[in-house]
Amino acid sequence: MALSFLTQDLAIDLGTANTIIYLNDKIVVDQPSIVAINNLTNKLEACGENAKLMRGKENPNITTIRPMKDGVIADFEAAEYMIRWMIQQVNSKKKSLFTPNLKIVIAIPYGSTDVEKRAVRDAAEHSGGRDISLIYEPMADALGIGLNVEEPKGHMVVDIGGGTTECAVISLAGIVKCASLKVAGDAFTEDIQQYMRQQYNIKIGDNLAENIKIAVGAAIPELETTPEPYDVIGPNLITAFPVKVPVSSMEIAHCLDRSLAKIETLIVSVLEQTPPELYSDIVKEGIHLSGGGALIRGLDKRLSDKLKIPFHVAEDPLRAVARGTNLALKNRSKGHLCPYLMK
Ligand SMILES: Nc1ncnc2c1ncn2[C@@H]1O[C@H](COP(=O)(O)OP(=O)(O)OP(=O)(O)O)[C@@H](O)[C@H]1O
Ligand SMILES: [Mg+2]
Repeated sequence: MALSFLTQDLAIDLGTANTIIYLNDKIVVDQPSIVAINNLTNKLEACGENAKLMRGKENPNITTIRPMKDGVIADFEAAEYMIRWMIQQVNSKKKSLFTPNLKIVIAIPYGSTDVEKRAVRDAAEHSGGRDISLIYEPMADALGIGLNVEEPKGHMVVDIGGGTTECAVISLAGIVKCASLKVAGDAFTEDIQQYMRQQYNIKIGDNLAENIKIAVGAAIPELETTPEPYDVIGPNLITAFPVKVPVSSMEIAHCLDRSLAKIETLIVSVLEQTPPELYSDIVKEGIHLSGGGALIRGLDKRLSDKLKIPFHVAEDPLRAVARGTNLALKNRSKGHLCPYLMK
């Protein structure tokens, strides 16, 4: 107890789009997973929100990098810069004479290879982590949604993040079946860029396309409450003159249709492989949606209508994995046996 200020418990969801860190049970970092590097000095120019603002507006001296791709570290150096910066954000708030002992749990995709797991561990160790455990994202997701993962009962979670959609069946504190697809929020953003080009001859950047998705993103043409069309201003590809077009949620529902159909196919394929007892539990309980993609309007309705199984959007779906990772860390600190944590 006396030395407890020397230990800090960190739970990290290192996502393709966003990184969330819990410190001693509180969210202290929630930032886009982006770094900006100054090419002249080779030093970090900005990280998180500030680096995201620079995206698409770089000059030759600045490069913005998203170190995570498809849920795993793609650029090790940039990832380490980012994690170190984020952990520093946490520590600079607390002035201490001692370097604290960092106890860390990090969520990783279920399909991670040993090399990918090693990379996450190394990056955390280089940032000062001492006692590092890993947890699979679908398990953290289920914990964060508030499911009782340890009972002999089937639960299905679908996490639609930035880079990947992961669909998993959980029972008895383990993952029974899991499959993933590289179609998620980033793919929806690209669909919108492509649509704007083909339909209106307008070229738009990542950030604008993402704003359109958030403002009028929809999975079905007829919504209960329809958002106002989003006015997009951009250069006409042929004349280079600025044009303004209002984009409606109905158009976006049409433009996301193919990617959403791929996610449906993924869920059906996991259901097909699910043992019958677990299958009937899932049909009774319904399927849980999380990740930023779960916020697409009408997605739960579209999936429920197509698959004839109820779908529930998790509370605060962008943070479900982080919340569950933090819960796992807390359970372990309480001395609870946590079969879902990997040393
Ligand atoms: N309101 C919204 N409507 C639609 N999409 C949204 C909304 N808010 C965020 N998103 C999208 O959700 C995605 C980010 O989700 P999330 O933070 O769950 O991903 P991640 O955990 O970083 O990625 P991954 O799990 O694939 O590694 C982004 O593509 C973002 O554009
Ligand atoms: Mg995620």
